[in-house]
Amino acid sequence: MALLDANGITKRFSGIVAVDDLSLSVANGEAVGLIGPNGAGKTTFFNCLLGIERCDSGTVTLDGQEITRLATYRRARLGLGRTFQRMELFAGMTVRDHLLVAERSRLGTGRLWKDLLNRSSPSAEERSRADHTLDLLGLADVAESPVEALSLGRGRLVEVGRALMAEPKLLLLDEPSSGLDAGETNALAETLRDVQAARGTAVLLVEHDVDFVRSFASRCYVLDFGSLIAEGPTATVLAEDAVRKAYLGETV
Ligand SMILES: Nc1ncnc2c1ncn2[C@@H]1O[C@H](COP(=O)(O)OP(=O)(O)O)[C@@H](O)[C@H]1O
Ligand SMILES: [Mg+2]
Repeated sequence: MALLDANGITKRFSGIVAVDDLSLSVANGEAVGLIGPNGAGKTTFFNCLLGIERCDSGTVTLDGQEITRLATYRRARLGLGRTFQRMELFAGMTVRDHLLVAERSRLGTGRLWKDLLNRSSPSAEERSRADHTLDLLGLADVAESPVEALSLGRGRLVEVGRALMAEPKLLLLDEPSSGLDAGETNALAETLRDVQAARGTAVLLVEHDVDFVRSFASRCYVLDFGSLIAEGPTATVLAEDAVRKAYLGETV
């Protein structure tokens, strides 16, 4: 049984069909790519999976449980993790504290606001979970640094770290390389592969960087104008004429 099973997802916005009858699955621990030109419907599809948008038809099943109409926070508790396309980090707060705040919101202990007001300190267990995650992401050396001191690439890893603190079964990544240079993109791809190997987290990756997708995803899906135009092993799919034409803008 698939970990994620999206079946026949359709989402319309006044007149346009942003996602048209899309079916997609991800197995436990699998790395899957979702690609397509700008405006193809990738982010809208993610939003339907996350419950940020309500799909017009179709069903979403996570780990055997139907979640199509569940609230976003309940999907998160069931193991659906995500990062944000625009970084949402707090200036002045250290890298470790960003992960600790994520941990508090996971536990739902209600201590989050006390933390922000500096009234309670994290337990040894919380600190150790945060430090393990920082190690895994290669951020241990900047644990005490304010987040704004980091490069864009390492800031992106902090976002991944915050998502990982919830121990998701499936992590949705929407264009994690946006704004990064080639070196930072390679480092990010490598770190994500390490995370996957160490934690066995399944990843569904939306990316415009084809090399990133090629090196990271064993399977991929291609959307164009909301519709699936190809799916299969990444190397095979990227070689298809229709994909090269739609996605890579090549004339074939
Ligand atoms: N909230 C919205 N209201 C109206 N149209 C939207 C909204 N969000 C996305 N769209 C439209 O849906 C289509 C798919 O957009 P999007 O999912 O952002 O594509 P992608 O992430 O693949 O670039 C686009 O035509 C976009 O303009
Ligand atoms: Mg998008």
